[in-house]
Amino acid sequence: MTTRDDTILVGTPDFKADAHARYAELRERGPIHRARLGDGSRVWLVVDYELGREALAHPRLSKNPEPFAERLRATGRHIMLPGSGLGGNMLTADPPEHTRLRRLVSKAFTAGAAERLAPRIERLAHRLVDRIAPTGRADLVASFTAPLPMAVICELLGVPEDRRADLRAWTREGMGNPSDGQRAALLALNAYLRDLLAEKRRSPADDLLSQLIRANDDDHGRLSDTELLGTAVLLVVAGHETTVNLLGNALVALLDHPEQAAYLRERPERMPAAVEEFLRYDPPLETTPARFAAEDLVLGGELIKAGQAVVVALTSANRTALPPADPDLSMRATDLSRNDADRLDVTRRDPRHLAFGHGIHYCLGAPLARLEGAIGLRVLLSRLPGLAWADPSAPVRWLPAGITRGPVALPVRFTPAHD
Ligand code: HEM
Repeated sequence: MTTRDDTILVGTPDFKADAHARYAELRERGPIHRARLGDGSRVWLVVDYELGREALAHPRLSKNPEPFAERLRATGRHIMLPGSGLGGNMLTADPPEHTRLRRLVSKAFTAGAAERLAPRIERLAHRLVDRIAPTGRADLVASFTAPLPMAVICELLGVPEDRRADLRAWTREGMGNPSDGQRAALLALNAYLRDLLAEKRRSPADDLLSQLIRANDDDHGRLSDTELLGTAVLLVVAGHETTVNLLGNALVALLDHPEQAAYLRERPERMPAAVEEFLRYDPPLETTPARFAAEDLVLGGELIKAGQAVVVALTSANRTALPPADPDLSMRATDLSRNDADRLDVTRRDPRHLAFGHGIHYCLGAPLARLEGAIGLRVLLSRLPGLAWADPSAPVRWLPAGITRGPVALPVRFTPAHD
């Protein structure tokens, strides 16, 4: 039965240490629960795959927090995701504003643009591994999973190399729970990107920020200054920490399942399909940003009152038991059997997941994230033979920040390269 017990605390370090078991218990009790997030806010928490899809595509669940600002301020959630509350980004807009913003940004940020970055991502990945390959030991978060996506998003946007460490620090702090430090980090990120946009306006270059400044069409006009800034902040934040955790969570999975790492070393062409399994098994966002009921509505049999927040626990939705095998398919249906969702299997065909969301807000950066994931993991496996945990008995420490899920560090050992 669904619980109304709002003492369920999600996103706390304690919960994160044991997240999959805790979510499995919640799924047993029902698809939707009252819960309190790590930032103190009370939400309806959807833990089931089908209901998660329904919530993410629900036309009366709004992404725009403005009408509910009073309530949010009372719970300290005046900034839920960096960029929101500052206006002008598609993640916190509803149609028709959302349609307009997304259309304009999509013109500049296409799947083809991501594809063209592939050789550059490959070179960046090799350059990072060059530094660690001779050492035999490394923290792969500090040396690989964090710097790679930051370098890629900075190259895409046209952020100079000497400011990348600042951007990394501001994003990490900004994704944390509400605090003075979080607010200061977001303000610093905004101030920096405002200056950078002014510079690109004066002297445009061949980068995404310059293209966004130019983006314009007959039906949707152009992006205002506020919208440009909101979009730039969103791309840095959404495009960075998530991909760090895609790589990080995939590596945790591979280090825990060396036989599957060996399989992928032998068959590197299988990596793009394996990335889908990593996204399913432990997605980089534990919970989606909140949606707000525009009016009283019923979801999963519960009455959601106007203004109440709904959040989908992707970490849980992705582990919802897979549907029973279709009798017509049963000959090849081993991965459709019940209770199979807790098992990592990089050979699965099209593992279903909500890691990139669903509906009109489906992740705009998914093609780029998939590409970075596949290239980064392939390069690591090919260049670091014997990759294993430095201390197999040490538990993984998960990031404490509410909405994301990823390892704090990845201490590993491998056979050093001699050249
Ligand atoms: C593995 C990495 C990533 C994951 C797991 C991820 C996940 C998500 C999810 C779940 C959403 C939907 C949120 C919601 O419905 O409330 C989203 C939206 C978005 N993501 Fe990603 N993301 C990733 C990488 C990226 C990258 C690399 C970029 C850009 C460079 C990006 C840009 C965006 C944007 C602009 C949106 C808003 C789309 C809209 O509101 O229409 N993401 N992402």
